[in-house]
Amino acid sequence: MDRIHITGGAPLHGEIPISGAKNAALPLMIASLLTGETVELANVPRLADIASLLRILGNHGVDHMVVGKRPGQTTETGQTIRLTASNVIDTTAPYDLVSTMRASFWVIAPLVARFGEAKVSMPGGCAIGTRPVDLLLMALERLGATIEIDGGYVVARTRNGLRGGEISFPKVTVGGTHVALMAASLAHGTTVIENAAREPEVVDLAACLARMGARIEGAGTPRIVVEGVSRLGGARHEVLPDRIETGTYAMAVAMTGGDVVLRDTRADLLHSALDVLATTGTEVTALPDGIRVRRNGAGVAAVDVTTDPFPGFPTDLQAQFMALMTKAQGQSRIRETIFENRFMHVQELARLGARIRLEGDVAVVEGVDRLKGAPVMATDLRASVSLVIAGLAAEGETVINRVYHLDRGFEALEAKLGRCGAAIRRERA
Ligand code: EPZ
Repeated sequence: MDRIHITGGAPLHGEIPISGAKNAALPLMIASLLTGETVELANVPRLADIASLLRILGNHGVDHMVVGKRPGQTTETGQTIRLTASNVIDTTAPYDLVSTMRASFWVIAPLVARFGEAKVSMPGGCAIGTRPVDLLLMALERLGATIEIDGGYVVARTRNGLRGGEISFPKVTVGGTHVALMAASLAHGTTVIENAAREPEVVDLAACLARMGARIEGAGTPRIVVEGVSRLGGARHEVLPDRIETGTYAMAVAMTGGDVVLRDTRADLLHSALDVLATTGTEVTALPDGIRVRRNGAGVAAVDVTTDPFPGFPTDLQAQFMALMTKAQGQSRIRETIFENRFMHVQELARLGARIRLEGDVAVVEGVDRLKGAPVMATDLRASVSLVIAGLAAEGETVINRVYHLDRGFEALEAKLGRCGAAIRRERA
């Protein structure tokens, strides 16, 4: 298995291009199942999770074509993928495919909405805590689907098509909102989604569905109204920038010091995280096509943070922020409210010399003057990248094992950081 070696201590200077958002690209690709016409997605990141989903969609019979690169494009300018679900041959998503990526469970919504049946393996447990699908199934039931659990599979069926209904989520769920939006778009009548997720990726999915002919109002607010249509058509859509990748590199710069422009991204996608960074003493400036992040001289101030659904501080940046706080001046309390077990990075950060103790859903981080490189490994994507951030500021060498987690969600990580002066290299297995 590949490893990443980092020798810490170098400040970051330069430019980092931000890729399209993985967590927007995945539901957008799944939405292609809603129509027999071609959905063309631009700015799709080159990531292991995207390749896995292409395999899953291919198993249903979706054709895909990756459009060739144009002159001047590099491997980091996202790819354009055309997806055509005109000949769906199988409405079953088997265990061995779904278990590789939880988001693939969401295929249940377009399959049952368009074909009246779907059989999708229950997603497995996950290193960041139990992640049930009860709310996703509740949403489909509200639209008239019958749900059965059979041999580890969820079987969703409808006789005469889905019909609009009231879906009120007791808890904000991104996946639940994606599922509700896709299913309601092809249901007969009106659906009202209350307590909907407001994440930018939900807004991006709604925008693409609207281009396909869906009638959706209120995406980005807690109340979304969908007027179902009988068929959807093809569309071209550009995936929005990855706000978590943006925030990750912003925190890396805050950690090492330096001056970096994060290009092709938008400050409005992560205001709360940028506000927190500014409070740590990092200079953050919104630019017309990106964000400039600078920290010179002075140390990092300790700040308390609580994760929340958008527009709050994202859980997907919690581990990275904790890495930053390990060298802050003073104590920071980081509360995780979305996933109950998302602190697997704590023990690995401790291997680098971080002082962190857990008090229930709060990690109390006492800033230290220095971190020292060590071999580490992580069990999920964001936890892995928090170790990269810590390694960039640790003395000596940090070796990160199980790099495949990083490859699921960070495109060209070593190249992007390396060009800004980081001493980082991949050792291929
Ligand atoms: C999405 O997961 C993201 N994944 C996650 O990013 C992200 O951490 C999460 O949203 C929260 O922002 C993708 O977009 C592919 P949820 P999702 O449904 O949709 C509970 C990453 O690192 N819940 O919003 O699966 C759930 O347990 C990943 O890129 C239920 O109780 O998350 C959690 O506590 C990790 N029942 C809370 O809701 C349900 O049926 C929010 O989960 C569904 C969810």
